[in-house]
Amino acid sequence: MLYARGLHQNNRRHVKPPFILGTEFAGIVTASPTTSFKPGTRVFGSGLGSFAEYICIDEGSVKRVPDQWSNAEACAVGASGAVSWGSLISVAGLKKGETVLILGASGGLGVMAVQIAKAIGVKVIAVVGDEEKAKKIVEVGADEVVDYHSPQWEEKVKGLTDNGKGVDVVYDAIGAIESGLKCLMYRGRLVIVGFAARGGKIEEVRANRILLKSATVHGYRFGEDGRRFPERTKYVWDGFMKLVDGGRIKPVIYKEQYKGLEQIARALKDLEAHRTWGRAILTINEQAEAEQRPKL
Ligand SMILES: NC(=O)c1ccc[n+]([C@@H]2O[C@H](COP(=O)([O-])OP(=O)(O)OC[C@H]3O[C@@H](n4cnc5c(N)ncnc54)[C@H](OP(=O)(O)O)[C@@H]3O)[C@@H](O)[C@H]2O)c1
Repeated sequence: MLYARGLHQNNRRHVKPPFILGTEFAGIVTASPTTSFKPGTRVFGSGLGSFAEYICIDEGSVKRVPDQWSNAEACAVGASGAVSWGSLISVAGLKKGETVLILGASGGLGVMAVQIAKAIGVKVIAVVGDEEKAKKIVEVGADEVVDYHSPQWEEKVKGLTDNGKGVDVVYDAIGAIESGLKCLMYRGRLVIVGFAARGGKIEEVRANRILLKSATVHGYRFGEDGRRFPERTKYVWDGFMKLVDGGRIKPVIYKEQYKGLEQIARALKDLEAHRTWGRAILTINEQAEAEQRPKL
């Protein structure tokens, strides 16, 4: 939505008109100049212009679709799993036995963050916007859920931690840094991942809030890290794919079906109305996938 409206920070430099929307995909390789991915290989990943029948993409931005996943499931994971693994593990240093707060837990990134944290033995408090999403996120693995519409929800989050001391780590995909700092324990860590709740208007944070908690605030920009330090992004992808191979990650696909490019507007309207959870998936050429998918 932010890209479509020119409100995303990347619209200033990397994503300028004319461009095709859509940043995550799964599909079938039709041609490749290298031998890593032969034509016919099912792949998934991230790249601008994925609302299309064909996309030309850098080899480093794609991974082989695990046999157990359909292309739709791989698309639901896209790069979101790697972004969340990098944010939680590589940047915020989340460790077994800690407690993490996931802001934007029901979203495409959030459902991955919840599962990654659970996979390494962390207690997860998820913040979501309604009852249906609360149920979904418990199914995904969250230990506790708080609705952000409830008054003083930050106090509720703290009440769910040992002696009300606050969480060790906040993962913020929505842009609620001051709220996140309220939920954080003394000397806790907060990682800024996105601003989904901000409509393009980024929050200004009172710096003393960081000092008062002796907090560490990190930012993580997956795309830019990949451009500057491809080896670090490879490390992040490898870490996440280990969890996938170990069966610890389940793609989360929103219940509505969207078929064909002409359904993009309906899918975006559902997203805008806060109806969706996990990833809303648009299928474009199911027949091609059926022909290529290995028989399990
Ligand atoms: N750092 C990086 O490298 C990186 C990479 C990819 C994406 N991102 C960014 O990460 C953010 C999340 O991406 P996504 O794909 O997960 O988005 P998404 O699937 O649209 O999810 C957005 C989430 O934000 C929540 N939300 C929206 N408005 C809210 C509000 N006012 N208060 C609280 N929660 C609210 C939604 O929950 P409700 O529906 O319940 O409101 C939903 O869970 C985006 O800003 C995206 O640009 C960052």
